[in-house]
Amino acid sequence: MSIGTPLPLPGPVPRLGVLGSGEGSNFGVLLEAIDAGTLPAQIALVLSDNPGARILERAASRGIPHAWIDPGAHPNRFSLEAQQAVSGQFRAAGCDLIICAGFMRRLKDPVLTDFAGRIVNIHPSLLPAFPGRDAWKQAYEAAVTETGCTVHLIDAGIDTGPILAQTRVPVYMGDSADDIRHRIQAAEHQLFPRAIRDLLATLPQAG
Ligand code: GAR
Repeated sequence: MSIGTPLPLPGPVPRLGVLGSGEGSNFGVLLEAIDAGTLPAQIALVLSDNPGARILERAASRGIPHAWIDPGAHPNRFSLEAQQAVSGQFRAAGCDLIICAGFMRRLKDPVLTDFAGRIVNIHPSLLPAFPGRDAWKQAYEAAVTETGCTVHLIDAGIDTGPILAQTRVPVYMGDSADDIRHRIQAAEHQLFPRAIRDLLATLPQAG
């Protein structure tokens, strides 16, 4: 699928729709950046495939609209009904960009077409290395001396879309997989708000 030409942003303050499956620490740093005025955006809606995800609690505690989307019966897949619900809810909330902040299922149509070129993901490796799940564990098992994190646009592949920004993270002798994960996450928290801000700055504003 081609990612397409971005449509103009409709309003002065871009509206972000956030998808997450777990802790939501990256969502937390986006909120901090918005509060600090360094990310000129607002969070319109948070959706999760996991009813117990902490990201939903974080949204609730800030009074941000949030909902669980039933992913369907498969443990890893996201059903067609779920894809339709995500697209419908983000469109109804007037979202300009979808931000995947630790979302662990694959997006397909109609989401990919409805938000072509406007779905951002953060991934815990230097893509194209270590796509897929548990990328820090893949780095540990591959015994690399360097890994990192990547912010990229989502396309129809698994972690294959155009790369927006990356940060390198060293791996030291004696590191556990968890040490690597923590070091990557610290780098993600610096990179993610900056990469989204830079992307927003490149998108055409509606006159
Ligand atoms: C982050 O490290 C993110 O890169 C990763 O999940 C974590 C979520 O943490 N995403 C993926 O692996 C996607 N393939 P968070 O919920 O604390 O932001």
